[in-house]
Amino acid sequence: MLAAAFFVSCNEGDKKTENKMADVKDRKWWKEAVVYQVYPRSFKDTDGDGVGDLKGIASKLDYIKSLGVDIIWLNPVYGSPNADNGYDISDYRSIMKEFGTMNDFDTLLKGMHNRGLKLVMDLVVNHCSDEHEWFKQSRSSRTNPYRDYFHWWPAEKGTPPFRPGSFEADGSGWRYDSLTNAYYLHYFSYKQPDLNWENPKVRKEIFDMMKMWFDKGVDGFRMDVITFISKDTLFPVITQKDIAEKYNGDWSQYLASGPHLHDYLQEMNKEVLSKYDVMTLAEGAGATRYTALKLVDPDRHELNMAYHFDGVNLGYLPNEFKQMDPNGYKLTDFKKVYSDWDSVFADKGWGTIYLGNHDQPRMLTRWGNDAPEYREASSKLLTTFLLSMRGTPYYYFGDELGMNNIKFDKIEEYRDIESIGMYQQIKNNGGDLDRFLKGQKISARDNGRTPFQWDDSPNAGFTTGTPWLKINPNYTSVNAAMQEKDASSMLNYFRKMVKLRKDNLVLVYGKYTLVDKDNPAVYAYTRALNGEKILVLLNFSKEKIPFNLNGIKISGKAWINNYPSENVEENKVNLEPYQAVIYKAE
Ligand code: GLC
Repeated sequence: MLAAAFFVSCNEGDKKTENKMADVKDRKWWKEAVVYQVYPRSFKDTDGDGVGDLKGIASKLDYIKSLGVDIIWLNPVYGSPNADNGYDISDYRSIMKEFGTMNDFDTLLKGMHNRGLKLVMDLVVNHCSDEHEWFKQSRSSRTNPYRDYFHWWPAEKGTPPFRPGSFEADGSGWRYDSLTNAYYLHYFSYKQPDLNWENPKVRKEIFDMMKMWFDKGVDGFRMDVITFISKDTLFPVITQKDIAEKYNGDWSQYLASGPHLHDYLQEMNKEVLSKYDVMTLAEGAGATRYTALKLVDPDRHELNMAYHFDGVNLGYLPNEFKQMDPNGYKLTDFKKVYSDWDSVFADKGWGTIYLGNHDQPRMLTRWGNDAPEYREASSKLLTTFLLSMRGTPYYYFGDELGMNNIKFDKIEEYRDIESIGMYQQIKNNGGDLDRFLKGQKISARDNGRTPFQWDDSPNAGFTTGTPWLKINPNYTSVNAAMQEKDASSMLNYFRKMVKLRKDNLVLVYGKYTLVDKDNPAVYAYTRALNGEKILVLLNFSKEKIPFNLNGIKISGKAWINNYPSENVEENKVNLEPYQAVIYKAE
């Protein structure tokens, strides 16, 4: 059978679930939502300084609404000297100057709510900025009342036991401060001192600040490295051997194992979260399949969702900083990671699904194929995957256009503290800088941070000034304006896939079952809810693949298809390169 089923309408699915939903347990708006992440620096600039701003986001709310998404997650917009693009906050209660004013924020929030969109802000409270007033006070003397807002190690005790400082050339998470002859702790750069959560005053300050934003009407928080907040303040010696033996070689698993993490989250829930109808998402750094449920088990009264790193870390060589295995990643490993994680929340709790964000390269380059002939199909395939899995999808701005990595050649083109710090570290150690730069073309965070490609006018319609980070030169052919006009564009496919998910709760709540787990090219799974079943087929390769249905019966035309036609034979679907299709199944 060769049927023309291009973008089959969602009507078929529309009616199906309506009457059956009474049976679904624990329905929640944040489970049924699609989240769209906006990196404010790179979305839309209205004042010509080359940096995106809140007025820019407000001017594009109709575009966001037109996507069909429900929630906008904004990266930090608070007062910050921008050592780490807003993840170093100097004032939690104000708006970053480049982004606008509190007035602009209020207008933006109102604009979202008027359109039925919710706002999730970034909560960065493992650390603040060394330019925050608390830290200025804290460092000024050993007896200052703010001294124990941070973790200090007096130098007379010798050098403190090693802790990692992710963005530092020397790799150390302690920095010596001569003013008081002491070291302070910073898990990221020295501009990001870690807050001392063991101090009840610190927790109170943070909880009050959270309430201030919730009282304004904010609908939730994505919590930056929240798993790291509790520390063993005796700072025992932890060796590389301990990390290898007890923490799977992963420092972040140690950092996420602080003694009071769950006490503090429960306190936060009781003091703040339980008082509002909001959603919370933990950046689950160091959380494993064995520990993650504790963060989101509703009976524990902590958070709603967490995201893991097992998926996005696939395919890197061990013991090297984000350096790809020359053979890429294996689809069988990819399937195993997402299937294993689905099982963590099969009975309790709720998961998330993402392939890109501001800490990752573009999903098209990393997980699809950004060669011109495969861009469109593989981008649509990844969109189909994200929106057909269980767990709330977090979709990164620009992925709906098939934006891809910019692949800088020189370190001078990067703006990210992570790439620059690591370059310096490799240089200091006499390492191979060319190899590092080659690896960064695939893995660097700046690849995912280049400005949004609105149209083919100068600077892609992002700014009239000089963009803070180079714009991908392919904006003349990859941009929103062109794709608006094309019914079969990646942008319009994303809209259709969002609608399909929203109209068919089998895609939200349906039980996930992996099919043909050893197939090296096709990711196939079923989703089933209250007697309704669907089959998702994703050909992750550039080959044509006949997929054997092995007894699974499919019926009717595809619910959605990223190719203009489908090719179904008895017990077999012949898949085109990067073809993605969803069928009703029995
Ligand atoms: C999180 C953020 C990342 C930031 C880091 C330090 O991982 O997502 O962008 O650099 O925390 O705040």
